Order: sequence, then C-alpha cells, then structure tokens
Amino acid sequence: MKYTFNMSLLNGKHILLGVSGSIAAYKAADLASKLTQAGALVDVILTAAAEKFITPLTFQSVTGRKAYTDADLWGGQAHILHVGLAHQTDLLVIAPCTANTLAKLAHGLADNLVTITALAARCPILLAPAMDVGMYSAPATQANVAALTARGVYFAGPGEGRMASGLTGLGRMLEPAELLGHIRLVLGKKGALCGKRVVITAGGTQEPLDPVRVLTNKSSGKQGYALAQAAIDNGADVVLISTPTALTPPVGARLVAVQTARQMLEAVLDECRQADALIMAAAVADFRPAQSAADKLKKRDGIPQIKLEATEDVLAAVAGQRSKTNRPGRVIGFAAESRDLLKNAAEKLKSKKLDFIVANDISAEDAGFGVDTNRVTLLFADGHNEPLPLMTKSEVAEVVIARLATMLEKD
Ligand code: CTP
Repeated sequence: MKYTFNMSLLNGKHILLGVSGSIAAYKAADLASKLTQAGALVDVILTAAAEKFITPLTFQSVTGRKAYTDADLWGGQAHILHVGLAHQTDLLVIAPCTANTLAKLAHGLADNLVTITALAARCPILLAPAMDVGMYSAPATQANVAALTARGVYFAGPGEGRMASGLTGLGRMLEPAELLGHIRLVLGKKGALCGKRVVITAGGTQEPLDPVRVLTNKSSGKQGYALAQAAIDNGADVVLISTPTALTPPVGARLVAVQTARQMLEAVLDECRQADALIMAAAVADFRPAQSAADKLKKRDGIPQIKLEATEDVLAAVAGQRSKTNRPGRVIGFAAESRDLLKNAAEKLKSKKLDFIVANDISAEDAGFGVDTNRVTLLFADGHNEPLPLMTKSEVAEVVIARLATMLEKD
C-alpha cells in the first residue's frame, strides 16, 4: 500500500459532525469552529434532541456551511442526502454521542439523519461519548462500546469530571482541543510514517543545584511538540521524551517524562531500541553542577561557588551504539547557534553522525527559543543544504517530518 504524506492534515478534509442531545452540545460548536479554522470542511447534522440544546444556525455561523436536521430527511433531496453526506466524508465524528445514540449505532438502528448517515458511512467513525456516570458504566452501554470497538469504531473519551447532574465520574465529553487531537490521530493513521516508530525529545533539561533550584535553558519545547504532532499526523508511533514544559503532549504520543541530561540519555537509549528514527529537538544541558546539595542552600551560608561538570552527549552516545538494533535507522539533530550557523551546524552533523541537522539561528528575535516561529536551514549528510523561510514551528516540523519520511521510504 502506498501512503501519502499529510501536510497540514486538516486542510481540505471533509468532516461530518453528528451532534446528539446532551448539554455538551454547546462544546460541539467550538469543535466545529476549531476544525473550520484548521481548514476542514465541516458539515453538521443535529438530532432532534440536539436541537433542544443548540440551533443549526450556531453551527452554520461557525462553519459557513449548511447544518442538517431531521427536517432535511423528509425534504426533496432526502434520498441523496442520507447516503451522500457519508460518502463525501473523510471522517464522521459524533460529539457529543449520547448513550441512546451509542446504543442505536451498536445495533445498526437508523431512525434519524445522524444514525442513517453513520450506517451508510464507509469512512472511519469517531465517537465522543457524553452521559451521566451511571449511564456510561451501565453494562448495556459497556457492551455497546465493546461491540462498536470490535467493529473498528474509534472512541475519544469520555473523561472524568463533574457532570451536569452534580455527580463526579467518568462520562464527560472531552474538551474540543483534545477532541481535535483524536480527530488528527484517526485521520493520520494512513500517513507516510504508518508503522514507523519515531522517538522525539523536547524541552530544556533541568540540572538540580539543590532541592529547589535548577540550571536550565530557555527552550519551551514547542518545536519538539510540533514535531511529535506532525509525526502523528502521518501515522507514526511516537514516543515523546520531554522535560517539564507548559505544553500538552499531542493525543497519541507516549510521553516519557525526564528532567536531567542523564535521565534523557537513559530514556533515549531505552526507547531507541527498535526505533526507526530519533529526532533530538531537546536543548540538553552541556554542564551540570558537580554536586547537588541535599538541603536547600541558605543565604546565611554565603554565596555558593558552583562547580560544573560535563553532562553526557546523548547524540554521541546513540552514534556510539554498536548493535544496529540499538541505533535508530535515521537520526536528526538540531543546532542552536548564535554565530557561524552553517559552519557549526555542519561540524555537528558530521561529529554526531546525523542524517540531517536543523540549524537554528537563535540570534534573531523572531526565531528560536520561546517564540512560535523559526528560521532554519536543513543540512544533509550528502552535503546539500535546504534553507527555509521564516515559518511557524508547526510548519518547520512538517518539513522535517516530510524529509524524514522520504528517507525512511528509501530504507
Ligand atoms: N545534544 C545532545 N546531548 C547534549 C547536548 C546536545 O544530544 N549533551 C544534541 C541536541 O539535542 C541537538 C544537538 O546535540 O540535537 C546539538 O546541540 P547543541 O546544543 O546545538 O550543540 P552541542 O553539541 O551542545 O554543542 P555547543 O553547545 O558547544 O554548540
């Protein structure tokens, strides 16, 4: 099977959003808006119960497209509509999906436009359940979830939290941002990195000085997290080794939390067994305090003299692995430089035995640490360079993943 590379995954995708009758229906409008902003073409179908909570006009206003109701089922175009909607679609999402709609889907009932469309659909189906605690854990619902899962239907959630009833537990619909992550995960499944295991590191390491203080750097982790999302958009099995950041890992990534350079080294060596690729986007400390005090350093004891020692070089350790199974097929590094960008990056490319390096000029204000944009040049082991214009970190990530996919295709 030939897989295609997914650039800007949601752009131009047809998404059918079924909305059933739950108080969470108001969040579906936000989801429709987020999908539309990402370039998707979103057609919405509301059940009669959903119309009690929210109007078709709300959805039409955010999607710029018609929102359908059961009234359309009995209109002049009805015979085309019930199969037509499902056929032009890349993904059918039902969010919120009530216990009742879930039960109908499990049993193939088709008594409204949402369930008719689901039965006729040949595209993947993703359900975001929303119901009260007792209803979700009820044996009947659990059996329905199991039957649908066995048939290849995907589920996003439900999550834990406070319900409209005042009860707390499992049954809340996931928030729109998280649903968007699940949608990307399903849409990306047949991408160019399908079946490939990609290890990505992100963030700046933290080296303890005492129990409350660390030596760290300005890395936000944004570029690494964007790489993880771009790899998931292309169906990769992603391991994200990350230091503490303010970011939420992409849905589908397996997070390995680390703090220090030594922990990062151990995690990378461990995860790289059987990996197809390693992308070292993390800003790993080169020096750490030679000693970390067991107790908090006190002011009254005077200004401490901090002695530093060298940390492990993760990429050098990976390059030094003897066994081929411990070394990923392709290794990509980053170079953060404030001067002699290409010269320094070319040296790192060679000494760290990389397939390519992403050279990053951190002296510019609109590129590098903390900001959302980057201006990078890719330097390849065969000697050719690819300078890229100022791009968002997500766009840089997509180019990096595209180049990696091309290499892995040839392997
Ligand atoms: N790197 C690493 N282990 C380290 C330091 C860096 O694996 N201890 C990786 C980074 O993740 C990056 C690449 O090496 O992919 C280059 O990192 P950079 O900080 O630019 O270079 P250094 O090798 O640390 O050299 P210098 O700081 O002297 O420029």
